[in-house]
Amino acid sequence: MELTGPPAPGAAVRAGRGAAPRPERSAAIAENTAGQPAEAPAGDGPVGRVKPCRLIRLEQHIDPRGSLSVVESGMTVDFAIERVYYMHGQAASSPPRGLHGHRTLEQLVIAVHGGFSITLDDGFRRATYRLDEPGAGLYIGPMVWRVLKDFAPDSVALVLASRHYEESDYYRDYDTFLRDARSLT
Ligand code: TYD
Repeated sequence: MELTGPPAPGAAVRAGRGAAPRPERSAAIAENTAGQPAEAPAGDGPVGRVKPCRLIRLEQHIDPRGSLSVVESGMTVDFAIERVYYMHGQAASSPPRGLHGHRTLEQLVIAVHGGFSITLDDGFRRATYRLDEPGAGLYIGPMVWRVLKDFAPDSVALVLASRHYEESDYYRDYDTFLRDARSLT
């Protein structure tokens, strides 16, 4: 899948050509109860009021040796990547991960192996995505609560982040997040 041209002005991210995986707007949202009051209704439209969240089809190079997927700052995503981390070792019975929001952080999440679900919530809308292929990433902008769960065995969740780790950037309390997210103009 080839990416062409720079990001559109003001665009949070730029998708490659081709059909990206589609979000599941499903009952999974209703069961997203890990610490969250069911206040934010599922709605139509993009989640992410600061920058819209979206699935991005990554540039891939596929040949008889296998596949190579590429993420580049300023091309695949418009933020500079300052930190990389990955989550692994989850079992199907593991508690959800995430359960936080960020004030400013931007991220691209990739299921480099296995698969998992991510529910996003901007205080007004929710959407659940199933990431299960290494050729796609989910862009998550600022002021979005996220919950990761339903990990397939041996999954690896790779996260490319715009900033170094700063605990002060986190919302760990959903009610505080909701208050601030809903007060955004
Ligand atoms: P935590 O934020 O709880 O993970 P999750 O993404 O599932 O919410 O992070 C687990 C621990 O790792 C916590 O003590 C903070 C620490 N941590 C770092 O030190 N650096 C990092 O870049 C990240 C993402 C977490």
